[in-house]
Amino acid sequence: MPRLVVTNRAGETSEITVEDGLTVMEAIRDNGFDELLALCGGCCSCATCHVHVDPAFADKLPAISEDEDDLLESSDHRAETSRLSCQIPFTAALDGLHVTIAPED
Ligand code: FES
Repeated sequence: MPRLVVTNRAGETSEITVEDGLTVMEAIRDNGFDELLALCGGCCSCATCHVHVDPAFADKLPAISEDEDDLLESSDHRAETSRLSCQIPFTAALDGLHVTIAPED
């Protein structure tokens, strides 16, 4: 199974394997990272699943939608590498993707 590397807010990095069909948000949440609240359950309306993504994978990610862009704009911690993790389906092409959970807004 493809691997996802996650750095939490304490700066600790761990690697998880991800089943087919999950988004990055679901993979992080289901592996016990309780600081990723994902309050809206993945319907792109809360921004509590904000992560910073390794720029090396930027061209492998789906394009950012207008809704996602608007939500990210409301965060004090938006960076060029910001994404909402519920909007990234995790596929084998993303094997080794490194994401860092963004600071809480
Ligand atoms: S979980 Fe709410 S926007 Fe991603």
